[in-house]
Parts: sequence; structure tokens; C-alpha cells
Amino acid sequence: MTQSPWTTHNPGGGRRVVVTKELPGERWLQTLIAADCRVEVSDSRTILTPAAIERAIGDECAAVIGQLTEAWQAPLLKKLAAAGGRVLSNYAVGFNNIDIAAATRLGLPVGNTPGVLTETTSELTVALTFAAARRIAEGDAFVRSGSFADCGWLPMLMLGKLLWRKTLGIVGAGRIGTTYARMMVEGHKMDLVYHDPFPNEALEDYVRDYGAFLETHGEPAVTCRRAESLDELLAAADVVSVHTVLDESTHHLFGARQFAAMKPHAIFVNSSRGPLHDEKALVEHCRTHPDFYAALDVFEDEPRIQPGLSDLPNVVMVPHLGSATGWTRQGMAVLAARNAVAMLDGAPVWNRPDVLVFLTAEAPAAAPSIVNADELGLPYFNDAMEERS
Ligand code: DGY
Repeated sequence: MTQSPWTTHNPGGGRRVVVTKELPGERWLQTLIAADCRVEVSDSRTILTPAAIERAIGDECAAVIGQLTEAWQAPLLKKLAAAGGRVLSNYAVGFNNIDIAAATRLGLPVGNTPGVLTETTSELTVALTFAAARRIAEGDAFVRSGSFADCGWLPMLMLGKLLWRKTLGIVGAGRIGTTYARMMVEGHKMDLVYHDPFPNEALEDYVRDYGAFLETHGEPAVTCRRAESLDELLAAADVVSVHTVLDESTHHLFGARQFAAMKPHAIFVNSSRGPLHDEKALVEHCRTHPDFYAALDVFEDEPRIQPGLSDLPNVVMVPHLGSATGWTRQGMAVLAARNAVAMLDGAPVWNRPDVLVFLTAEAPAAAPSIVNADELGLPYFNDAMEERS
């Protein structure tokens, strides 16, 4: 039994599920209750420590829906497995907070929530890019402080950067990187350069066809090319936005050398994971290069920020809001609940790109996304199952 502040739903349920933060919407909870789960939800607004989560798991716990802010290392995973845990369902698409290898060794499936964050996070990245380019946060503070009332419109007040027809560089051309790139290319006619270990032919074809479409309307085409190296991208781009996963190979992908290799007036955008950038080096670069801007949704030592960052006018920051729309956060909650229920029921794993079907009443009897399904040898959903469901 966990201590307050926890709220218990369906106390008579036969399978105990611990949810380490209150989640938006009702559907996720109904999904768990319909699957005979007793659901214990933490009311805490602060990040639970591993010790607090261990206490919540107790001696018997079938599943946990956890948060990206929690460090799920081997001891905590062991505790969950020992309590009879059959799944850790992360309320996030990213899972760098979890030792996946340790979970796999323990036979513990780990769920995540892809497919409902793509457009939402891309839109936030667009918003951040323009907030930096057009100095939105500085302007807002200027008006609120009464300074605008003092000086009025001025020919040289807060001049920003025009992005129209400039060059966008994305590092990582996966789902979110690609969607953001398309928003910037289509909306602002930016040429695109991307860096990724794999060519993204679909993206290249799309931009080529879009360029041809523009030409039929008498406008110059837009272009897309894959940079062989990160340095090649950094030299070419006016905006550099990072969309790679965080692992050992990408930790501090952006440090003093990379910032120095960017154009002096460039904008650096990070809405992926904070440790992709060396924040101390970023502070120093922004301090010594006032025309360079940084737009951050994530921080190296989140939720703490590097000293000096908040003093810099050429940095705009928001508190990890990439997925923060009601639709997305409710969708993530439903996917996290469905991952948990499917693993408790011994259901197969979905392996098709479209997970939105899980938000409907026709949700298949499957887990939307289990990141270590291959390693655990879990069965995948197939067409025959579709006919039966
Ligand atoms: C995720 O799900 O990984 C996002 O960072 C949440 O905004």
C-alpha cells in the first residue's frame, strides 16, 4: 500500500498499476479500469525519487506508467520485476531515462508513445525558431516593462532575422525532424540541408516535387540535400535544429567547436534532449556572439538551467513544452495505458507506423509500441489477428 498523496481508482481491481504523475483526460484511466486494474496515481508535482517510486511499487505491482523525468536504472527495474511487474510504460516517446538493456535482461517490456507527438513537437519547434528570429520574448518583456510606451515605434527597434528563402539545417531526419523541416520549407520556402546516418529519400523526393510545384507557379524552387558531415551542415545553415535521439554517441553533439563552426548570425534550436548540447559552451558562445541566437525547449541538466543562460537576451527558453497540447498529452496517456494493458494481457505488439487507431474505439488488442520487443522476442500483431479483432 502506498502512502498519500496518492489517489486510488477502482480499489477492487485485480492488477495493481502505479502511475507516477496525474495524466490528462479520462480515457487512459477508463482503459486501465476496464482491464481490471486498481490504479494508484501520485498527486505529487515534483519529480519522484527512485526511493519514492520503490516505496510506491511495494511488494506487488503489475505495471508502472512512469515519466521521462524519472531515472529508471537497474535497481529500480529490479524492484519492479521482483514485485511481479510485467511492463514499464513510459509516458514519452523518448526513453533515454531508462536502462533498456537492464530492463531487457529482467524480461521487462518498456513501452513508449510515438506517433502522437510529431506535429505538436514540430509546431513548438517552429514557434521557438521564430521566437528567436523575431525576438518575441525580448519584445514581450519590453512592452510589459513600459519601455515601448517610453520610446514608441523606432526604425531600428529589435531588428530580427528574415528566414524566408534562407537555409534550414536539421540534424536527425526522423519523424519530428522531417515534419518540422517540411513546415519550414513549405511555409517559408527555406532550402533544406539534413544530416543523418541514413538518406531520407522520401524527404528528398518531397522537397524536389514541392520545388517543381513552385516553379510551375513562377517561383524559384526549394532544394534539399544530405550533408556528408555535421560540419558541412553547420557551415551552410542559417537555422540549425537538432532532432537526434540522445545516446552515448550524441551526448554533447553540440559543443564549443560546433557552435564556432556555425554562421555568426545562426539560430540553434533544441527541442529534443538537453544533453545533446554542452550548455556551458552554449552560454559562452551566446555571450560572446550577440548575433547568434539559441532557442531551447530542453536543458542539459533539466529542470535546472546553466548559470548565465537566463541573463542572455539572445536565448529564448520554454519548459520542455514540445508535446504540450491537450490532444497530444491525452493521446500519450491512452497509448501508455494501452501498452500496459496489452503487456498484462499477453497481447502482441503493433509494428505498423500508424498508432492513431489506438485512440479510437476500434483499438486493436495489441501494445502500440514496446521499444525492446525484438530483444524480448515478443510476438507482433499480424493480419490474421486483425481479422479476428
Ligand atoms: C517525449 O515524449 O519524449 C517528449 O520529450 C515529451 O515532450
